Amino acid sequence: MTRADKPAVMDILQTTPQFLPAEVVVAEEVLDCYLDDPSAGYFTLVAESDHAIAGYVCYGETPLTECTWDIYWIAVSPHHQKRGIGGALIADAEKEIARKNGRMVMAETSSKPDYDNTHRFYLSQGYRLVAQISDYYAPGDNIMFFQKLLK
Ligand SMILES: CC(C)(COP(=O)(O)OP(=O)(O)OC[C@H]1O[C@@H](n2cnc3c(N)ncnc32)[C@H](O)[C@@H]1OP(=O)(O)O)[C@@H](O)C(=O)NCCC(=O)NCCS
Repeated sequence: MTRADKPAVMDILQTTPQFLPAEVVVAEEVLDCYLDDPSAGYFTLVAESDHAIAGYVCYGETPLTECTWDIYWIAVSPHHQKRGIGGALIADAEKEIARKNGRMVMAETSSKPDYDNTHRFYLSQGYRLVAQISDYYAPGDNIMFFQKLLK
């Protein structure tokens, strides 16, 4: 991702119905952190389709762990979904993580029904649901931990 990609990525974040306004604010802070200082520990890749930005993934090594990485954000624009773009993004992120000696990738998400596609997506990409904390985000809204071991 370059700075020129930011408006398109922001547009994807703002048009993704699952993301709350406060989550978009945090996603933008993380993007700015990556763009301002690529050595800050965040990595961001974008996917292009017909010369337009169709999605992005942001990941990084989890502080104070030995080679555990986290997918902080992944989103594909609603009209580009279900064409393999999310899968390509996460596969490229995993390739980079493996190259940097990462051994475990975690992705956390909400249990709300509007994330059902997301749960299926992680499972289809070889992730396992390894833990869940009830009522974490809000009453009735659990945090779900998906994990993939790279070695
Ligand atoms: C989760 C997300 C990133 C997946 O992106 P995507 O580009 O739709 O992902 P893919 O196309 O690689 O895979 C999604 C589904 O499409 C299917 N698919 C892939 N290529 C396909 C094709 N050419 N034709 C039909 N289906 C296809 C996959 O098998 C998969 O099916 P499944 O969900 O039933 O397992 C996207 O749905 C999204 O942005 N969701 C909202 C934001 C979000 O929840 N982000 C994660 C939390 S931060």
